[in-house]
Amino acid sequence: MTGDATARALNLPVLVGSVREGRRSIHVARHVGDALARREGIEAGLIDLSEFDLPILIERPQQADRPPPGYEPFQSRLRAADGLVIVSPEYKGGIPGVLKNALDHLEPGVFRRRPIGIVTVSAGGLGGVGCLAQLRQVCLSMGGLPIPVALPVSEVEALFDERGDAVDDRLARRLGPFLDELIWYVGATARQRRLDAASGGA
Ligand SMILES: Cc1cc2nc3c(=O)[nH]c(=O)nc-3n(C[C@H](O)[C@H](O)[C@H](O)COP(=O)(O)O)c2cc1C
Repeated sequence: MTGDATARALNLPVLVGSVREGRRSIHVARHVGDALARREGIEAGLIDLSEFDLPILIERPQQADRPPPGYEPFQSRLRAADGLVIVSPEYKGGIPGVLKNALDHLEPGVFRRRPIGIVTVSAGGLGGVGCLAQLRQVCLSMGGLPIPVALPVSEVEALFDERGDAVDDRLARRLGPFLDELIWYVGATARQRRLDAASGGA
């Protein structure tokens, strides 16, 4: 729903912040990705860190003779995005190391003028709000626009069965308004980018 018949679909992928075996946040990420894919005018898809070879950063990839093999594919998926959803568990009160390491690989400003919706996941009752606060800060430092509305998901084990199917509509009910808000920001910034490009502006 871009409100402009000539506009292309909005590219709005979901980045998953955990590679842990048995991770529960992947169920949330798939749920979010499926809901996005059902929206008109949205091109969604998962960016799963477990599919990218990104070892612990020892040098900025932009300055390395041999960047890690996962760098270019990871960077180009994000560079092409009009906006982003990050779905991340909270580990030790903050961002999982694997997610921060992956973000550290990206070129500075890669999220410039891109709205970012943040979904945090926890087994307990607080929904990963420690991770949410840190992720907002990190996204800002990368030029991104973390939107004011977030989606902290508590007690994730009670929301899905073993196959990853939602057992009730608790998450879906909160997800709709969150995605409405995110898509509004992503559509608005994408429209402005098109206007800028048409007028030869920034
Ligand atoms: C290393 C580690 C640290 C964790 N730290 C926290 C934490 O600080 N706060 C919290 O609510 N849950 C914490 N958890 C539990 C997660 O909320 C739980 O694993 C949940 O299922 C989401 O993470 P997952 O996608 O890895 O499954 C931690 C889990 C791991 C593996």
